[in-house]
Amino acid sequence: MPQHTLRIAPSILSADFAALGEAVRAVDVAGADFIHIDVMDGHFVPNITIGPDVVKALRPHTSKPFDVHLMIAPADPFIEAFAKAGADIISVHPQAGPHLHRTLQTIKALGKRCGVVLNPATPVQAVDEVLDMVDLILVMSVNPGFGGQSFINSQLDKIAALRRRIDMTGRHIDLEVDGGITPDTARDCVAAGADILVAGSSVFKTQDYATNIAALRHAQNVLAPVPDLNAT
Ligand code: DX5
Ligand code: ZN
Repeated sequence: MPQHTLRIAPSILSADFAALGEAVRAVDVAGADFIHIDVMDGHFVPNITIGPDVVKALRPHTSKPFDVHLMIAPADPFIEAFAKAGADIISVHPQAGPHLHRTLQTIKALGKRCGVVLNPATPVQAVDEVLDMVDLILVMSVNPGFGGQSFINSQLDKIAALRRRIDMTGRHIDLEVDGGITPDTARDCVAAGADILVAGSSVFKTQDYATNIAALRHAQNVLAPVPDLNAT
């Protein structure tokens, strides 16, 4: 069961890029807990998306935390720019640079929360030596680069393994899952121990963002323990 209340982070990768400010305001009103921003460089992943100037331009449109997922290599030269642009959480892939610990130190020194992202083929051990400093672990349940891909089921065991590791630390570390999240896969992720779900296509598939977000949040209720009516 999740340690914390389930939170939903709509990914604006699936929004209309000609109207991103409006999309951010709309998902804020619709109940988003975070705004997930996918930064891609056409090098670390085969797609190009958003840079710090766009993050800065979006900042006035919401007070919800910006969850910035860096899919760029190297990441280090751009971290300060994203921090100054208004990122609240900055997550990096261990493969994006030679010194993950230093990168996380850099993010923390800028006063931001730091995250580590594990690709589908990256083992849980990649975070073992930074569990004392990381604020968030993001499990990719698709290969990074594009929205609208299918959930990779093998990642559920990884989520469960990370939940056990996180609980053993006694620290507050968010466990986030990104890619192919639908109401069905959301339930599986929450059962495995996830507490933040990123969703692009399933939030932006229709304009009724509130209903789409609520459908994902419902994953937690499905798993809620049945009250014992005999208890006094
Ligand atoms: C993929 C991105 C995801 C993407 C998810 O590289 O990291 O955040 O937007 O999109 P869906 O929810 O459509 O799989
Ligand atoms: Zn992402």
